[in-house]
Amino acid sequence: WVLTVTAQTPTNIAVIKYWGKRDETLILPINDSISVTLDPNHLCTTTTVAVSPSFEQDRMWLNGKELSLSQGRYQSVLREIRSRATDFEDKEKNIKITKKDWGKLHLHIASYNNFPTAAGLASSAAGLACFVFALAKLMNVKEDESKLSAIARQGSGSACRSLFGGFVKWIMGKDEDGSDSVAVQLADEKHWDDLVIIIAVVSSRQKETSSTSGMRESVETSLLLQHRAKEVVPERIKQMEEAIASRDFASFTQLTCADSNQFHAVCLDTCPPIFYMNDTSHRIISCVEKWNRSEETPQVAYTFDAGPNAVMIARDRKSAAQLLQRLLFYFPPNSDIDLNSYILGDKSI
Ligand code: DP6
Repeated sequence: WVLTVTAQTPTNIAVIKYWGKRDETLILPINDSISVTLDPNHLCTTTTVAVSPSFEQDRMWLNGKELSLSQGRYQSVLREIRSRATDFEDKEKNIKITKKDWGKLHLHIASYNNFPTAAGLASSAAGLACFVFALAKLMNVKEDESKLSAIARQGSGSACRSLFGGFVKWIMGKDEDGSDSVAVQLADEKHWDDLVIIIAVVSSRQKETSSTSGMRESVETSLLLQHRAKEVVPERIKQMEEAIASRDFASFTQLTCADSNQFHAVCLDTCPPIFYMNDTSHRIISCVEKWNRSEETPQVAYTFDAGPNAVMIARDRKSAAQLLQRLLFYFPPNSDIDLNSYILGDKSI
């Protein structure tokens, strides 16, 4: 027999960024972060996990290509999930798996991203969150989403935020074992459903410096990172929570843009400096800044993760349409960017 579960997990985009770990093994961050989860129908990872007594080893495929599960992050997640597995029974199919059996049975895992992998579009977030969510379902793990988020965190930090829909905060926590470093939902996707997310894929090439090694180098060499984590982010988190609660788009935009720019300033302050944005990214920032300054209230927030692609959040559909028009003027079709729009999304299914 073969038992399978399929899950779909959306990606999330940080508006207050996570950059820097205080514990590399458990993946514990040096500051809180806040993100928005995108609609799972658009940018998502779909993962099918299968278990069968005939499987001889754990194996995984990403976008059809086999990858090694020996990496520490997959191993920690598998260990955590297996230790929480509970008895399972399907009377119809005559399948019975006890808690103890789960430790001996092997898994086959097939995962697909419907967007570029490792191009700075938080593919690891959706990927690892889906990995955890699907395995937890298969192995009958009876933990709530916050507990699952702490497991996903050990796969990839930003993944813990993809277990929830809407607006999500990853609390850095204080405990050494990481048990209080979990994600919580600040508001669901219906709370502020006017927002429209526009992603400009500037390059779908795999980034040169992964987030993991980039943030390690920043922790080791950037003084600005220390200042950011201790003096800037704690206050920003409070202000961002207020902006989200009161749907204050002007503050939301100011905080989102400032935080993205400071994150990239930290990258430049790293030795050797890390360049995630390129000329096209800079042109997009200029275009949005100019527009926001010409209006009474800002129309669009922008943020860039560890890559050149722009994520823009428009206050409503009208300004999203105007933004697309403006961007198409600066970047005509067949130029170097690819534009798509999305809405805020719900949690994994
Ligand atoms: C810039 O979560 O990919 O997107 O924990 O090492 O897997 P690891 O890093 P990852 O880093 C994401 C960094 C970021 C900001 C963010 O999503 O908060």
